[in-house]
Amino acid sequence: MSEDIFDLIVVGGGPGGYTAAIRASQLGMKTACVEKRGTLGGTCLNVGCIPSKALLRSSELFEEAQHDFENRGIKVGSVELDLKTMLNQKDTTVEGLTQGIEFLFKKNKVTYIKGAGTLQGGGRVEISGDEDKVIKGKNILIATGSEVTPLPNVEIDEKQIVSSTGALELPKVPKKLVVIGAGVIGLELGTVWRRLGAEVTVVEFLDRILPGTDNEVAKTTQRILKKQGIEFKLGKKVTGAKKSKSSVTLTMEPSKGGDEETLTADVVLVAIGRRPYTKGLGLEDLGVETDKAGRIIVDKTFKSSVDGVYAIGDVIEGPMLAHKAEDEGVVCVEMLAGQKPHINYDTIPGVIYTWPEVATVGKSEEDLKAAGIEYNVGKVPFMANSRARANGFTEGFAKILADKKTDKVLGVHIVGPDAGTVIHECVLAMEFGASAEDIARTCHAHPTLNEAVKEAALAVAGRTLNS
Ligand code: FAD
Ligand code: NAI
Repeated sequence: MSEDIFDLIVVGGGPGGYTAAIRASQLGMKTACVEKRGTLGGTCLNVGCIPSKALLRSSELFEEAQHDFENRGIKVGSVELDLKTMLNQKDTTVEGLTQGIEFLFKKNKVTYIKGAGTLQGGGRVEISGDEDKVIKGKNILIATGSEVTPLPNVEIDEKQIVSSTGALELPKVPKKLVVIGAGVIGLELGTVWRRLGAEVTVVEFLDRILPGTDNEVAKTTQRILKKQGIEFKLGKKVTGAKKSKSSVTLTMEPSKGGDEETLTADVVLVAIGRRPYTKGLGLEDLGVETDKAGRIIVDKTFKSSVDGVYAIGDVIEGPMLAHKAEDEGVVCVEMLAGQKPHINYDTIPGVIYTWPEVATVGKSEEDLKAAGIEYNVGKVPFMANSRARANGFTEGFAKILADKKTDKVLGVHIVGPDAGTVIHECVLAMEFGASAEDIARTCHAHPTLNEAVKEAALAVAGRTLNS
């Protein structure tokens, strides 16, 4: 077997891995990226962020054309769904973007190796793929991401019982879809299929949706989604699934114990979380330590317990988000190159792309109470925002939490139209250590949805002008 030598070998070509590989090469490292999927872009581009957002947008247009156009004086006749074309549009988007990364690799002189990598020690990585070989790196970066957490007794077949991957390519709209897990995937993909005509019920183990999100945000989101037609069964534990040719019957019981009940659906989506993926990497033989959840343990420089082996993204601790993986990848290789970058885990935004969108950054009210930090709240409804009114979508609110003594912004939570875009001025403000007054005194263009942020900042000091 031939042996190529690199400065850095990145195992995994998702947002964390491919971004790290490009940056490393830009910094002068001879870099290889090993990916076994057959295409670059990882979970995010192939079966995650991008295809789900394509379907969210298409299904949103479908719903608008059916229900909203007429109110605005636009007559389009009867609106029909062509699911095949909708799915093709998603696939074409994914294809274009994954090929785009191959182009970026060529442009940045990253060696792309197709195959599965196994760490052998001494910087060697064995590749099994089209061509089996061993390559050697001065450093190795593990960016192997995550996989679906399975649910005992509810076996995924990607046809009747699907994970998010199967839910992105259902060949027809199910009459009844049951989603297990009221987290991000459950709400986004539940929204897609509801808009396309499915009756959607979401079953959640806890007595609330979106655990970890500010309570008020979660409650408001649940109320709005319920109004749109999604049913919620909270505090329920699914205990098993029985399949017939055309349906699946789930058995469940109250999480705190009680009588069993059943729920029948054409399709069941299991979305109870994701777990780190390290299968076949050879970590145990090498002595790379993992925690109880299977995540690779790293220090502040992303170094694992073994010298020369680093890890970033979904495979380590922290929110499983593409932008978190990307930033960690860049920071890790810049540190390897002797630079002094930083990553601020307090200002990583999280966005749920339902309608309205849910966007959060920093601490929730519950976090602040638990930490004993006194804070002021500035909250305004989108009903008071003229652009939201003109656009015809006024549900939700923007809420800013600021330190009671210093007025420093500690958290921002928005449920509302385009919240995922609107939040970014708050992310930047927090990165610069801004106070609520800094935001309130920044001129905001009129009429924009961002004026809700300014108004919420004014509300922190109890001096709103438009609400
Ligand atoms: P991954 O993207 O999982 O990439 C890891 C890659 O490593 C994979 O391609 C895998 O094939 C490869 N690999 C694994 N083992 C080996 C090996 N031994 N050898 C070679 N290659 C290997 N996040 C957001 O921020 N926004 C969103 O809107 C969003 N939407 C999502 C929607 C869905 C349905 C899902 C499932 C996830 C979504 N996420 C979203 C989460 C996001 O996809 C992940 O956080 C992100 O992909 C993590 O990046 P990563 O590089 O750590 O790992
Ligand atoms: P999640 O962690 O967001 O939600 C899982 C939900 O399932 C939780 O509410 C949990 O209480 C519930 N649950 C757990 N076990 C259960 C059981 N046995 N029965 C019923 N409910 C149960 O996980 P999800 O939605 O699978 O997403 C995985 C990851 O992907 C998330 O960490 C998220 O960050 C990422 N993602 C991000 C997106 C975005 O940024 N817009 C979109 C989709 C996914």
